[in-house]
Amino acid sequence: MTTTVSPGATVDSVRVRHPYFQGLVTDAATAVSRIKDGDTVAISGFASAGTPKAFAPALAERVRRVRADGGSLSINLLTGASVAGEAEALLAEVDGVALRMPYQSEPTARGKINDGRMDYVDIHLSHVAQQVWEGYYGTVDVAVVEVAAVTEDGKLIPSMSVGNNKTWLEVADAVILEVNSWVPLEVEGMHDVYYGTALPPNRSPIMMTGPADRIGQPYLEVDPSKVVAVVHTNEQDSETKVAAPDAISQAIAGHVVEFFRSEVESGRMPADGLLPLQAGIGNVANAVLAGLAEGPFTGLTCYSEVIQDSMLDLIRQGRVAHASATSLALSGAGLAELVDNIDLYREHVTLRPQEISNHPEIVRRLGIIGMNGMLEADVYGNVNSTHVGGTRIMNGIGGSGDFTRNGYVSMFLSPSTAKNGAVSAIVPMVPHVDHTEHDVQVIVTEHGLADLRGLSPRKRAAVVIDRCADPAFRPLLHDYVDRATSRPNAGNTPHILEEAFSFHTRLAMTGSMLE
Ligand code: COA
Repeated sequence: MTTTVSPGATVDSVRVRHPYFQGLVTDAATAVSRIKDGDTVAISGFASAGTPKAFAPALAERVRRVRADGGSLSINLLTGASVAGEAEALLAEVDGVALRMPYQSEPTARGKINDGRMDYVDIHLSHVAQQVWEGYYGTVDVAVVEVAAVTEDGKLIPSMSVGNNKTWLEVADAVILEVNSWVPLEVEGMHDVYYGTALPPNRSPIMMTGPADRIGQPYLEVDPSKVVAVVHTNEQDSETKVAAPDAISQAIAGHVVEFFRSEVESGRMPADGLLPLQAGIGNVANAVLAGLAEGPFTGLTCYSEVIQDSMLDLIRQGRVAHASATSLALSGAGLAELVDNIDLYREHVTLRPQEISNHPEIVRRLGIIGMNGMLEADVYGNVNSTHVGGTRIMNGIGGSGDFTRNGYVSMFLSPSTAKNGAVSAIVPMVPHVDHTEHDVQVIVTEHGLADLRGLSPRKRAAVVIDRCADPAFRPLLHDYVDRATSRPNAGNTPHILEEAFSFHTRLAMTGSMLE
């Protein structure tokens, strides 16, 4: 439920403690009335958490009214990553978004993008702030940022994500704040907002050597003269749906835990705490983290983008000492657990701007273990995370490239098949490449784990097929690689180019990669 306050009314002085900001309190419809056709609007929100609650309904309504009066109104929408599905859908349904950047995962928006009715720019999440600063997206006209409270001295206590909020508040010409009373005030102190980033040639090292290091301040800053409205809401973040681990995700988790065990035995990872973990969003990642609860590891840390339910469990069990991220992507049960035990989690969780949570310099220095999902991998280790059939966007690259390119070990985890076995996650050649064979080191499916480190492409192909492909697809894959390899001038990475996409062609023609 969203509580709006009429113009001139005041919200709780505990939430808005500064009299100047109290004077700006208004309702969402009034706040969005300043948004014009063609404006670039940057909003808070990362995997649902921290999405402004009143903004999208109010703007969608305004778009409808403007259109009914014969006018036009659509915006360029910049975010941290995906935002709450309801907000994304409301704006997409009314064709209110002309351009979207960076990551989305909502079916209505996805459909518009794939139909060519919404421009979509899919970039690495660590690049967003600097590209906006560089001006690639023009002027940011309005920022809409959800916060937990405004302090006595006009500082902002962030809500359940940080994302690009620091940048939005800095670059936007005008700022609308949504103060959400649902966010517990005890969240104060969980955030670490670093103000030391700069554009080249003025950069200096980011002085972090561990996931728990604090290098910034717990508050966001805003120039009060840019704030044009303060809107009060009282609404929970949307739930991130998480399925209970099934047999496939548990098998994948088992292979990952076994891999960690052997890395410790070989001395490549420390027995106490391994190395900081990054896990992408989704059921498989959640199951892998849940699998760690059964394994022998303690003193774990996490340096990731999102914190999912299983991470809260690991913190509560004392297995994870500290988790650093930019957002809390939790189910309803996870949100309740967080809110009920906020004092515990504030001690063990740090939320940072995404330019820091995903920063290549830090990911490399800390030696992150990157674990992300994929649509498909080819026999040589190139990975497609984003484009079904090479053309239709699924979600976007998100932070997977930030962690894969720069991590200490870069792993991709996926069921071996999709669509009831009709689609193989292992193919001769991926029709779209997000992560190249040079970056991908380990591929895991329910059948096994392919460790590609130190292997030539020809050796990799055998390992990927035998360890990861579904048995029904192995003969087809071996046949392809054998014929490619036995051709004259087969090269270092043998392919039969006219057949390389035969799996995808078969799927398009028959509905299955098998027949
Ligand atoms: N071809 C066609 N569809 C495929 C497919 C393939 N090779 N592989 C998976 N799919 C479909 C599934 O059938 C499912 O469809 P449904 O929603 O209609 O059921 C959907 O893709 C999701 O697949 P699922 O197996 O449930 O995996 P997931 O939820 O882990 O998502 C990605 C996989 C690749 C879509 C997801 O990991 C992603 O968006 N990655 C890119 C961003 C990223 O890695 N961020 C990490 C940093 S947080």
